[in-house]
Amino acid sequence: MTVSSAPGKVYLFGEHAVVYGEPAVPCAIERRARVTVERRDDDRVRVNADDLTLDGFTVAWGGESDAPELNVPNNLVEAAMGYLDGAVEQARDAAEAPDAGLDISVESDIPLGAGLGSSAAVVVAAIDAAARELGTELGREALADRAFRVEHDVQDGQASRADTFCSTMGGAVRVQGDDRRQLDEVGNLPFVVGYDGGAGDTGELVAGVRELRDRHPFAADTVEAIGDLVWEGETLLQGEDTPLDELGQLMNFNHGLLSALGVSARSLDSMVWAAREAGAYGAKLTGAGGGGCIVVLDDSEGAKTALDYTPGCEEAFRAELDTDGVRRES
Ligand code: MEV
Repeated sequence: MTVSSAPGKVYLFGEHAVVYGEPAVPCAIERRARVTVERRDDDRVRVNADDLTLDGFTVAWGGESDAPELNVPNNLVEAAMGYLDGAVEQARDAAEAPDAGLDISVESDIPLGAGLGSSAAVVVAAIDAAARELGTELGREALADRAFRVEHDVQDGQASRADTFCSTMGGAVRVQGDDRRQLDEVGNLPFVVGYDGGAGDTGELVAGVRELRDRHPFAADTVEAIGDLVWEGETLLQGEDTPLDELGQLMNFNHGLLSALGVSARSLDSMVWAAREAGAYGAKLTGAGGGGCIVVLDDSEGAKTALDYTPGCEEAFRAELDTDGVRRES
């Protein structure tokens, strides 16, 4: 039996624009997906997911029927299965064991489809655990690359490397096209996350931005403007003492530009305003948008307390930067 875990992430800056070659800075946070894998005697794959902010589900495929048997009809479950199916294929390919059967169990404290990188964390942990169970240890770059291929396929070729690279490496990272690296010496970033209990459809939201960008020059300019502010933010991050007020102001700009691209939502906007009015340095949606989470920069109790009382905010929590990335638990 082999167990790996990988962290979720928040986007300090740059989601959506990163899909078009602009830079982005995601930061891994201490909320993890843990995947346990055990080899089977046959060629079937069986997945058990107890805690993906759903009631849990069990799926089996392979053997005589290729169609998964699903005991919970849910589009989020279907999406999760697409990622796991891809992860199994990558692990089998890496281990040169195309017919290996696997029992997979997923536990996660990252809400699904809410902008905290749940799919990337599950894919990274699943490939790592399954490949090791089949006798192959992947280096981090190779693991991130295989995880990216899964996201890229599942999201119809519209994924960037940002989520999967960040989840594999941990810490704050910078991704621009194929260029990706960890940002050293990033100090403590006092993140608070607000979660509206909902989810967005990443594929649909990315396709929507693409369509807007193709149709309106303002949208193409907006994507470029996001890229410009990421450059500024990155410089601030790597200076001696990061000025949190300036970083927060750039987060506010970034949220405004994402709203202009049509990916915010009323629940996200009201959480963002509640956090700002409570004195946070800055607040923005994180991830694909449409619903899910915001990320706030605040070193006082103000924003978290305000979010606790904001109608539509289901949960608010502090999120520490996770510097580990993928972890081999056993
Ligand atoms: C989704 O977590 C982030 C997006 O930028 C898509 C991607 O980078 O693949 C919206």
